Amino acid sequence: MATFLVGFRILEVESGPKGTSNETCADCHRSLYREWQASGHAGSYTSPLFQKRTNGYARKDCLPCHVPVTSQQTPLTTRTWSMDTGVDCVSCHVLRDAVRGPYDVDSAHRAIQDPRFLDNRACQQCHGNTVLEAREAISPFNTKTCQSCHMPIVKRHLASGLYQLLRKKKKSGRHDFNLTQLLRGAAKLSLGYDSVSRTLAVTVENVGAGHKMPTGSHGAPTVKLVVFLEESEPGRPVITREMAFSNRDGTAISPKGAGTLEIPIRRAVPVSYTAHARLLFFGNDEVTRTAAEVMAQQDYHFEYYPPPPEY
Ligand code: HEC
Ligand code: HEC
Ligand code: HEC
Ligand code: HEC
Ligand code: HEC
Repeated sequence: MATFLVGFRILEVESGPKGTSNETCADCHRSLYREWQASGHAGSYTSPLFQKRTNGYARKDCLPCHVPVTSQQTPLTTRTWSMDTGVDCVSCHVLRDAVRGPYDVDSAHRAIQDPRFLDNRACQQCHGNTVLEAREAISPFNTKTCQSCHMPIVKRHLASGLYQLLRKKKKSGRHDFNLTQLLRGAAKLSLGYDSVSRTLAVTVENVGAGHKMPTGSHGAPTVKLVVFLEESEPGRPVITREMAFSNRDGTAISPKGAGTLEIPIRRAVPVSYTAHARLLFFGNDEVTRTAAEVMAQQDYHFEYYPPPPEY
């Protein structure tokens, strides 16, 4: 048995205030731990915005998802120890005296395989609204798991140190839940000018998110379309028009759905225009609202002619 060779258990896992700490996992799962540290999950309790919105943690009903004992049990309950690590390794993986995970592996601790780690059930208790949006999405989005987009697979050693010599590399889902790459493939921008209605239409299509764009509702992230209309004649003022998409007011865009900003143009003289369209993502943190990420951009040139004079 492989256990005899390399896997004798050296870690007795236990949940609870005196149980296994999150830092213990770092001893052997170094690269996964570093990824987790960079994720939103690691800051789910310490986030300044969360502190503000809960009146300095006074709102107890907010805590179970942001600092849970375990996500393996319903209903979620609030962890009252080691709270700073928020949604951590222990809360997602440990139940009672064993680690739960996606695979059947021979670990240095008791590990129980649980297939729910490989589908939306791993996220459902906390991201319930997003899971519902995904279920209602049209094909092929409704068949993709959250992990397929948010935990892209890499091949690596799951455990570091001595285990690296003893074990083969395995498929492993990234744990940083990084949005940057996803944001770039999420939306398609298209521009068209209709010379009959004299209207510029700028359309944003959700082509990459398997749920509404944006999906979050708690910190209310916002996707904003900003269009600058510039005249070829130098020195003229630039016209700016904006449109915002958010779950806060029901304007978020469904998968394969679209939103259109129409800009009617009414001038007395012919004008050459260049439209610069930018799609920006404003994350949760109000404090850093200025640091938006560019999701897409597109420039478009068109000639405006005023209506012919009436007799
Ligand atoms: C003493 C080293 C060590 C410590 C400490 C440790 N692990 Fe592991 N863990 C391993 C090894 C070794 C494997 C198997 C790796 C392999 O097969 O490539 C493993 C596998 C796993 C798996 C995959 C199991 C499955 O069923 O898919 C998970 C999840 C996991 N560990 C989570 C944790 C968590 C959470 C902690 C902290 C509570 C932790 N580990 C602490 C060594 C350790
Ligand atoms: C125990 C509750 C819990 C579970 C389980 C959970 N999340 Fe989260 N997740 C949160 C909370 C709370 C936040 C907000 C964290 C913050 O930014 O402060 C969050 C944030 C995120 C973010 C945004 C990260 C960012 O940078 O803004 C993504 C993406 C995400 N989760 C995906 C997932 C996926 C996919 C799963 C399932 C594999 C999952 N989560 C499981 C609670 C959870
Ligand atoms: C059902 C689980 C759940 C509960 C309960 C919950 N949250 Fe969240 N919260 C999340 C998840 C998941 C995210 C990330 C995605 C999203 O916004 O849907 C999040 C994100 C946030 C964010 C943005 C990220 C951050 O941490 O800065 C804030 C702020 C926030 N929640 C505040 C609250 C407040 C205030 C309450 C109580 C009124 C609350 N949450 C209750 C699951 C929950
Ligand atoms: C938000 C919940 C969540 C948190 C927090 C989390 N994990 Fe995971 N973990 C998962 C899910 C879901 C999978 C299955 C991903 C897959 O392979 O598609 C997984 C898989 C794993 C695996 C098996 C190999 C792999 O990557 O698929 C190991 C080992 C592991 N996690 C260790 C850790 C450690 C160590 C931490 C803390 C640094 C941690 N996890 C934090 C949800 C979580
Ligand atoms: C087809 C790929 C895909 C799938 C499947 C997917 N997502 Fe996303 N997700 C994205 C993209 C792209 C973004 C960035 C654009 C956006 O914010 O909508 C994103 C953003 C997010 C965000 C943070 C920003 C926001 O919009 O609030 C959260 C939280 C999130 N996803 C959770 C989930 C959960 C939970 C699931 C499973 C039900 C899931 N995602 C399934 C592609 C996907």
